[in-house]
Amino acid sequence: MLTFLMRQALSRPLHLASLAAAVRHASALRSHPHATVRALGSACGEALQRRYRAEDARVVEGIEALRARASGSTERLRIDDYGAGAPDSAFTEAQMSAGRVVERTVGEACRASKKPTWAGLLWHLVREFQPERCVELGCCLGISACYQGHALRLNGARGRLWTLEGAPMLADVARRHIGEQGLQDRVEVVVGRFKDTLQGVLERNGPIDYAFIDGHHDEEATLRYFEQLLPHLAPRALLVFDDINWSDGMRRAWARLAADPRIQVSIDCGEVGVCAIDATIKDKLRVKIALA
Ligand SMILES: C[S@@+](CC[C@H](N)C(=O)[O-])C[C@H]1O[C@@H](n2cnc3c(N)ncnc32)[C@H](O)[C@@H]1O
Repeated sequence: MLTFLMRQALSRPLHLASLAAAVRHASALRSHPHATVRALGSACGEALQRRYRAEDARVVEGIEALRARASGSTERLRIDDYGAGAPDSAFTEAQMSAGRVVERTVGEACRASKKPTWAGLLWHLVREFQPERCVELGCCLGISACYQGHALRLNGARGRLWTLEGAPMLADVARRHIGEQGLQDRVEVVVGRFKDTLQGVLERNGPIDYAFIDGHHDEEATLRYFEQLLPHLAPRALLVFDDINWSDGMRRAWARLAADPRIQVSIDCGEVGVCAIDATIKDKLRVKIALA
């Protein structure tokens, strides 16, 4: 155990005491009487230890090779941006809805993709929960979509992911990446603002077992997407919220979500918040497991 803790402490900036606490909390969830909570504990524990089965590790290496290529790409894109801008931007709803056009290279855009630790968490959540009908808000270049799409494929069931992206040029590159990874039958990129596309995706494809909300990091918008998703969720569903500490507004949004009685389990992983909806869990559970 000591060797493991020292190795982990050296390989990342997580303080030894925080790491020990995170390992302890994930282990406690793993021995919880409810299967959904145990699965959450396993996913967090595996992500924390950056551990993959041999076959999974090979696939993840392939996605990381794709990320490395994209990171170095100077291909220029005109991006229609409907997001919240920077943490202190304070755009109004009307400004975000109207969007802005920004120019970036593929390499620059790639910096917005979830880093391997967090993409690994998504991977393990999908592998543990085996969801079939999944939605992602915020596709960008498709890196996290490739993680989730491959995890669905390895689950062996008929799992599908609909990933939503507002910028057509990003969506084109994402489709190319998804095709290169052989995931075109599993992952569909839906182009348009979330306010125009999400409802149709939910109506056509629900009930949804899993959603990753990683775009438009605005307090009101995040809570609105939660309310919009809720009636279309399966009785047992996972919601993963990105950037819950990105701004004061996102911290308030997360505080509201974690306290919401319609969410039975919430795990504050630091950058990402994981919520389980499962009415068979009788005692609400709120935990922190710092993954990075
Ligand atoms: C952080 S990036 C997604 C990264 C991706 N999930 C990954 O890890 O590979 C967020 C994406 O959401 C898109 N986005 C933000 N707000 C949006 C909105 N209101 N409607 C549609 N797309 C939006 C942005 O264009 C951006 O590409």
